[in-house]
Amino acid sequence: MGVFGTQARDLFSLEGKVAVVTGGTRGIGAGICIGFAEAGADVVLIQRSATNTSTKDAIEKMGNKAWIVQCDLSNAEEVRKVTKYITEDLGLLIDILVNCGGIQRRHPAELFPESDWDEVIQVNLKSCWCLARDIGRHILETKSQRNGSRGKIINIASLASFQGGITVPAYAAAKHGIVGLTKALSNEWVGKGINVNAVAPGYIATEMNTALIENPTRSRQIMERIPANRWGSSEDFKGVVIFLASAASDYVSGDVVTVDGGWMAR
Ligand SMILES: NC(=O)c1ccc[n+]([C@@H]2O[C@H](COP(=O)([O-])OP(=O)(O)OC[C@H]3O[C@@H](n4cnc5c(N)ncnc54)[C@H](OP(=O)(O)O)[C@@H]3O)[C@@H](O)[C@H]2O)c1
Repeated sequence: MGVFGTQARDLFSLEGKVAVVTGGTRGIGAGICIGFAEAGADVVLIQRSATNTSTKDAIEKMGNKAWIVQCDLSNAEEVRKVTKYITEDLGLLIDILVNCGGIQRRHPAELFPESDWDEVIQVNLKSCWCLARDIGRHILETKSQRNGSRGKIINIASLASFQGGITVPAYAAAKHGIVGLTKALSNEWVGKGINVNAVAPGYIATEMNTALIENPTRSRQIMERIPANRWGSSEDFKGVVIFLASAASDYVSGDVVTVDGGWMAR
């Protein structure tokens, strides 16, 4: 039966799906993992440390399966090995990838250290490409085992995918790159069974923004420009990622959805 014949809630169900998520220990990524579990998915958490089990514990408490797979996204060698481990050693069939792990480094542009540039590009862009390439290939190779259900890749972008920001040139370059990567992968894969989209968060109250939140002038300026009159929270991402990971979005690909309380429209 086609999707038009199913109940609306079935469109959004992730029952029986396996999602791989980076950055799930806290912040936006933790909200995404909990949302996926609430929609029925089992979740593979790619973490640089296995000692933080809070998201895994929360998912298991809901009756879903969760695995922590150790991988430092700043280490290209570890990132290259991780998909093989998940698919061959754990023997999992992956349906969904969310590239959410990310870092911020702030310096005046004229003083920006090359080491920070390299780290931001590796964690926020190159690791996303490498995981998408390897998990994308896995999804294409295992198409016959999926009963027609599509693979879904979601890259977490930023307002810095559209704007340059201040003192964040590496972050802006990486996040602009994420949008280009999303479109490039979509062009090759949407006809073969994988949707590739991005979500661009606005100003979200997580540890990444501690410096902005603690700066009274910047904090006030940001609030004044958000039409929704509040910073976002990790809860604000559940709906959009469940949509993009489920059959509800089967004809949506190459898009960037902003979740920003109306910021970009201003
Ligand atoms: N907050 C915002 O306003 C905002 C706005 C636009 C876009 N974003 C994007 O949203 C995503 C999540 O941001 P957030 O605000 O939730 O950040 P956060 O609270 O600082 O969390 C960052 C996550 O990335 C993980 N991570 C960082 N470096 C890693 C590495 N080398 N290897 C493995 N994992 C690593 C962290 O793991 P650990 O716990 O091990 O550190 C953590 O799970 C990022 O891509 C960010 O660029 C955020």
